[in-house]
Amino acid sequence: MTGPVTVRAPAKINLHLGVGAPREDGFHPLDTVYQALRLSDDVTVSAASELTTSLVAADHIDGPSVPLGTDNIVARAATLLAARLGREPQAALHIAKQIPVAGGMAGGSADAAAALRALDRLWAADLPETALLELAAELGSDVPFALVGGTARGRGRGELVEPVVDPATWSWVVVPSTTGLSTPSVYRHFDALFPDAPAEPVGAEPLLAAIASGDPAQLGCALHNDLQAPAVDLRPELGELIARGEAEGALRGLVSGSGPTCVFLCADGGAAEATAAGLRGAGHGVVLTTTGPAPGAHLIAG
Ligand code: C5P
Repeated sequence: MTGPVTVRAPAKINLHLGVGAPREDGFHPLDTVYQALRLSDDVTVSAASELTTSLVAADHIDGPSVPLGTDNIVARAATLLAARLGREPQAALHIAKQIPVAGGMAGGSADAAAALRALDRLWAADLPETALLELAAELGSDVPFALVGGTARGRGRGELVEPVVDPATWSWVVVPSTTGLSTPSVYRHFDALFPDAPAEPVGAEPLLAAIASGDPAQLGCALHNDLQAPAVDLRPELGELIARGEAEGALRGLVSGSGPTCVFLCADGGAAEATAAGLRGAGHGVVLTTTGPAPGAHLIAG
């Protein structure tokens, strides 16, 4: 029998998040550019007689707790893959968490992607990548991106992912919030603020041109998030945080996905450390520095 398998999966940010009017199924059409960050969760799976989930969180995680149990997205990933393989979902799943919870960085999606890849190996299924991507899309709109990683354009409801060439290393400061924001509530607030939103989301072309330039100043100008206005309206302190980070030397701050985590693009690693120190000095307890792009869910042991 195979021993424990550990897969590492990245946090994501949206460099561009264009949101259109809701579709008939209630989801919003997106044109987004994701970037995977070095900030990541590890999921370890081992053989067991039943499906169990456990979690250990890094010291910097001072936010909402992760609901464990059968409706946890990792348990759902195990159940879905087991059904696809015609077997029982027997495995012990352990999450080592570094990605902020309910933060707009797709931490749950990263865990689901990691669980799919790890269980595919533990159970010696060896499914083709296209099959894992289909299962990922059933679990959530941004789970496929967590498998792919790097920098990628996402369309549909975010699940249709095409990699983008991105040879640069971009420096980021990440400021999580101690209180989560639910993604559906931010989308609902988007609908309330923008009842006449066009069906077609704002296109990602300017952002893609900025990525191709490799120039952080150009990327800073091109960052775009249609969910920022509703997130800041629900949490006005996020607007103050963004202004403060920019005053501390960041090229540009923005809400990550549906928030409340805010991310700051900096000119290089030194500027990111200086901005992070400034934000800590201003009383922000947890301020992380990281880089992107990073690989998608990949095996690190087993
Ligand atoms: O797909 P996922 O489970 O991550 O989506 C969570 C919720 O976010 C959805 O139920 C929906 O309310 C909202 N959402 C949306 N449009 C998208 C993605 C998510 O309205 N493209």
